[in-house]
Amino acid sequence: MRDKIVAGNWKMNNDLAQTEDLLAKIKSLRSEKAGVRVIVAPSFTNLWHAFESLRETSVEVAAQNMNENENGAFTGEVSASMLTSVGVKSVILGHSERRAIYKETDELLAKKVDAAFNNDMEVIFCCGEELEDRKSENHYEVVKSQLEKGLFHISSDAWKNVVIAYEPVWAIGTGETASPEQAQEMHAFIRKTISEKFGAEIANDVSILYGGSVKPANAEEIFAKEDVDGGLIGGASLKAEDFLAIVAAI
Ligand code: G3P
Repeated sequence: MRDKIVAGNWKMNNDLAQTEDLLAKIKSLRSEKAGVRVIVAPSFTNLWHAFESLRETSVEVAAQNMNENENGAFTGEVSASMLTSVGVKSVILGHSERRAIYKETDELLAKKVDAAFNNDMEVIFCCGEELEDRKSENHYEVVKSQLEKGLFHISSDAWKNVVIAYEPVWAIGTGETASPEQAQEMHAFIRKTISEKFGAEIANDVSILYGGSVKPANAEEIFAKEDVDGGLIGGASLKAEDFLAIVAAI
């Protein structure tokens, strides 16, 4: 049975004091929900503090990115082993903002995926189309290509450490959410695409999260869809009460 997951991608938000405040509110407000994994993804500078602060809870800490190399002359970068050394076991890779702003290619992401697995990390692999892809009805091909070029080189055994996040770029930070039907259609397509290459058993065990303007008001309807296993939450993860309301909706 695949995990239900709600992960908060804080992006480039929260200094140390704001991190402490948000984590304190999350700890005080949350109630354990059996069978649901709750993850927060602060910026690099706050990972250790988040791990320490959440150590006695079931809330997990993920990184928002990492370098594909083990170490070396890569000024400003952070490696997988640096992340695991501060208690981080999961990493978001291929977020549309990294693809668009920092020009991360499918080929680079495939290397990052390998580096994460070489350090026994779980990968939250992001995919999603631009608005013009959807308008031209090319969105399935775009997502399939992202998966095939960035992720499908992995072994069957590696899939136990993979979570997929489908984030239509046109819904990220816009307030325009994909409809539950649109989310379900793409999630089912992603699962079918995985199944065609790796088999139905692996495909059925992969958690596929939806991301893109998930809010307390729309979470329950989206999460109710058969192939939606949770959400990757941006803006709403920066307010403890909203983030936990979304957790409660799953
Ligand atoms: O990674 C999650 C993020 O891209 C979604 O952002 O603000 O639309 O929830 P938001």
